[in-house]
This record gives sequence, C-alpha cells and structure tokens, in this order.
Amino acid sequence: MVKRGEALYRGKAKTIYRTDDEKTFIIEFHDDLTAFDGKKKSSLEGKGYYNAKISATLFKLLESHGIPTHFKGMLSETEMIVDAVKIIPIEVIVRNIATGSITRRYPIEEGRRLVPPVVVLDYKSDEYGDPMINEDIAVAMGLAKMEELELMRRLALEINQILVKFLDERGLALPDFKLEFGRSKDDGKIILADEISPDTCRFWDRETGESLDKDVFRFDKGDLESVYREIARRIEL
Ligand code: TMP
Ligand code: ASP
Repeated sequence: MVKRGEALYRGKAKTIYRTDDEKTFIIEFHDDLTAFDGKKKSSLEGKGYYNAKISATLFKLLESHGIPTHFKGMLSETEMIVDAVKIIPIEVIVRNIATGSITRRYPIEEGRRLVPPVVVLDYKSDEYGDPMINEDIAVAMGLAKMEELELMRRLALEINQILVKFLDERGLALPDFKLEFGRSKDDGKIILADEISPDTCRFWDRETGESLDKDVFRFDKGDLESVYREIARRIEL
C-alpha cells in the first residue's frame, strides 16, 4: 500500500499528495465547494465521498473502453490513488446541449442540441480569468504540442460518446463536462486526470430536465446533498 507524503497542491475541492513512490500521487476529495471564481463558498458533508466514488466509477468505465486515465484505485473512501502526472493547464470542455457560458457569450439558445458536439479549450489561469483559447494559442504559449492537442480533442470526443451512452441508460443527459489531461511522470504520455463528477459535469434528469449537478449550488436550485447522492446511486446501478 502506498504511503501519503507531502501535499503538492491544495485546492478547495481536492488536495494532491506525493507518495513514497514518485510515479504515484494521492488525490483527497474534500467537502468544500466554490463557484464563480471562489466568490461563492460552501461545504457539504459527504461531497468528497460522493465525488471520489463517482469519479472512480467513471474512470473505471473509461479504462474498460481503452481510454488512458490516471486512476489506479482507492486508498480510502475519499482518497484516490492515481498515476503521477503534470497537469496541462487547459480545461477541455465538451458540449452536447447549449447551456451555461456558451448561451451567455454567443447567440445560441438554451437547450439547443449541439450536433456534432462542441469542444472548447479554456486556459486555466486565475490571473487571466480562464480565457477561451484555441490550439494555435496553446502551442504559442508552449502548453502542448499540436499532436498532443489533437489527441486530447480526439480522446475528449471518445469519452463523450462513452459517457453519453452510459448515462443515458441511467436516465441522465450530459449537456456538458470539463476534462483535464496530464503528462505521465513515468513516460510523458497524455492521460486523463483530475475528476469526473457533479462538480465538473452537468447532469440533467432525462425526463424532467432537472439539474443533478453543481448548478444546484451555483444557482440555489434545491437540496444539494440529495443531488450528489442521486448521481452516485444512478451511476452504481
Ligand atoms: P460553463 O458553461 O460555465 O462554461 O461550464 C461548462 C462545463 O465545465 C460545466 O459542465 C461545468 C464545467 N466547469 C468546471 O468543471 N470548472 C469550472 O471552473 C467551470 C467554469 C466549468
Ligand atoms: N468551479 C467553479 C464554477 O464552476 C469556479 C470556481 O471554483 O470558482 O463556477
């Protein structure tokens, strides 16, 4: 069993730890939540547990379809054992139904199906306010090579297909979600990292259109605990 070492990065939702093996990190999922660049803050008992569980299930699903992910196993209910990676500071967002920022920034109406799906890249930077970028800007900034960006796009679209099918069978629509990729500290390969949870995805009940994700916190749409519990329950079905 790996031993937890010093914290490498402490965020609001997660802490990343080194371990006694340099190729392995531990991610601890917290109960804290933030939205709107940290302007809205709260805490929800059990959220760390649910997000760790949901992420683990979805990483295992993706691995079973041949997607390379950082997931290795669980150390406890809130601690995930992962391959050590260096995160590429780009949020890869895939959109199937228009909602959220795309409807605020562009004349695209809420609820419109986006076929084919829309892939958006945002530069992860508090200082610059997470601006949208494209492949050329990412290459110019030295964030990644064009081939790596092409791979990330291809993987994101493949992941989308796998998740949409899996969630559809559980009565859930996937309007959009955010992925982060990293370079393995072992062989430099690009692998899926971070988390896949109601904090980083939009999940809608397919029948009622009800939000079952962090939008419930962002926009005070109802009881948050029941939302995370419901997603964990449906995903384990
Ligand atoms: P957006 O509509 O606010 O741009 O969000 C698109 C998707 O990305 C949505 O599923 C939520 C996710 N997301 C994050 O995971 N982290 C963030 O900081 C933001 C703004 C969005
Ligand atoms: N993830 C948050 C959001 O979705 C942003 C933040 O952490 O402030 O709005």
